[in-house]
Amino acid sequence: MSTLLSVDGLGITFGGLRAVHDVGFSLQPGEILSVIGPNGAGKTTLFNMISGIYHPGAGKVILDGQDVTAMRPDLLARRGMSRTFQNLQIFQNMTVLENAIAGYHLQETGSFMADLFSLPASRARARTAKDGAMELLARVGLDRAAETEAGNLSYGKLKRLEIARALALNPKVLLLDEPAAGCNAVETEEIDHMIAEVAKSGVGILLVEHDMKMVMRISNHIVVLDHGEKIAEGDPATVSQNPAVIAAYLRAEAGADAGAAHA
Ligand SMILES: Nc1ncnc2c1ncn2[C@@H]1O[C@H](COP(=O)(O)OP(=O)(O)OP(=O)(O)O)[C@@H](O)[C@H]1O
Ligand SMILES: [Mg+2]
Repeated sequence: MSTLLSVDGLGITFGGLRAVHDVGFSLQPGEILSVIGPNGAGKTTLFNMISGIYHPGAGKVILDGQDVTAMRPDLLARRGMSRTFQNLQIFQNMTVLENAIAGYHLQETGSFMADLFSLPASRARARTAKDGAMELLARVGLDRAAETEAGNLSYGKLKRLEIARALALNPKVLLLDEPAAGCNAVETEEIDHMIAEVAKSGVGILLVEHDMKMVMRISNHIVVLDHGEKIAEGDPATVSQNPAVIAAYLRAEAGADAGAAHA
């Protein structure tokens, strides 16, 4: 199988702090790869470099054999890389369908003049966007909530809507930053199931998630970061028994307890 995404020697420094240093891995089509590590380990920063939000200080990002290091997020999206954010980015007072259509429009390259005069081509595009958006909603199990105002959705459904929007770009690679954050056990399982289905269709998934049960359940491969460096990688069983990984989490927990005690 040909590698979909490879990340090589990626690093960035913020005012002397090495937030990420020399991190590399590769992702195959249909694979679910999780990046885990204690708070502040560098997971989101790594995602921000891969998705073109931060310019890496070192290293390369190769998508489908092409060097896309530091490419703008919208151009990356056109080449097949899509992402969600750790904080929800949903328009609360638009309907579920309107939110999905908003995601769909990002991939359109229709002529501005045609839209301005609402020519037939643009009207046809609007219809296609609506059909496409409805299909997406069905894919994430939200088709029956299409006319609901997004602000009235449960948190789990909001997270699914966010993933639907990222899927509108028809990505080859999907980056999900904490898709189950704030969700209860039932909602988390629904999101699990949905991510697995998306991967089955051949999309490579990069996941950052704190819910370890979910990570262990759905990942094919896990990369562990601590203080910006990769300290381990492998399948879930191997990684969860790795002494360096256990030590990193225990250290982080001890640090948090000490912080709480001083607060
Ligand atoms: N824009 C920035 N400027 C300065 N420092 C930053 C910036 N972004 C991240 N950092 C620092 O880089 C380190 C890694 O942060 P990052 O947000 O990537 O961690 P994380 O693994 O995603 O943590 P969490 O699990 O809490 O989301 C932290 O020390 C953080 O304070
Ligand atoms: Mg983060």
